Amino acid sequence: MPKGIFYAAILLTLLSWVPLALAVRMRVESRTTPRIHIFLDMDVQSHFKPQETNPMFADNRAMRPQVPGTIALGELKADQHLYRGKIDGEFADTFPMDVTMELLERGKQRYDIYCAVCHGATGFGDGIINKRAELLAESGAGSAWITPSDYSSGDVPGRSVGHLYNTITNGLRTMPAYGSQIPTEDRWAIVAYVKALQRAGSGTIDDVPADQREALSNQMAEAKAAAEKAAAEEAAEAAKEAGDGTEATPTETSANENEEQHSTN
Ligand code: HEC
Repeated sequence: MPKGIFYAAILLTLLSWVPLALAVRMRVESRTTPRIHIFLDMDVQSHFKPQETNPMFADNRAMRPQVPGTIALGELKADQHLYRGKIDGEFADTFPMDVTMELLERGKQRYDIYCAVCHGATGFGDGIINKRAELLAESGAGSAWITPSDYSSGDVPGRSVGHLYNTITNGLRTMPAYGSQIPTEDRWAIVAYVKALQRAGSGTIDDVPADQREALSNQMAEAKAAAEKAAAEEAAEAAKEAGDGTEATPTETSANENEEQHSTN
């Protein structure tokens, strides 16, 4: 056999191991890039990082501001009633959805989470945060606290539902805004519940179903009589004690004597 063919055979044999060696290497090595990346597509391309400069624009900024008037897909929010609580630029007196028991219950649940801490579970402005702030103020630690509004007093009972919705969404004076934390529908649900709290706080006997009024009136009369009786008894007791008080002078002197005895001991 000519020597040339012999060497060529050895060389080819050795070369035939190369693909296998490559395959083994690929299997044992770990890397973060794809092992075989023949078509680069758009994986590797020139780009700007955030906050980099780009002389192509007059302001030299690579990051471009949004073109005024552009709106992300699905973010149009053109419904003024639903999203801003307004009809023809005025705060709406109506809800943009049906007020159902389900909505009220959702509102109660959300109210208890977001609002009750300040406004209290029944909306009198006596939530746990307010109690704490009052304690701090008493101890002289802080006096800048503004008491959360009582829903049943001042301007609040007269506020339209659109106004209440706006207060939750954007805040009002020192009341913080909750628009970014509470979704639109939930804000309306809370408005419905606030209205329910206000209604509950201003109820009279006429709101009770006619067939239950008498029983309730009797109960109220009984409670009133019991309270009056207790008050009269208390007054009698107080008068009796006051009577004792006039005769109590000797006991007072004896107390003084006791004190003197203590000091001599
Ligand atoms: C961190 C405490 C705090 C929380 C939580 C809070 N509020 Fe208030 N809210 C206030 C304070 C304080 C005021 C009074 C603002 C003022 O007079 O400067 C107020 C005022 C209001 C008013 C009266 C506004 C008016 O028309 O005068 C409404 C209505 C109201 N809050 C509703 C809510 C609702 C609904 C929530 C829950 C989504 C909520 N608040 C959560 C503190 C709070």
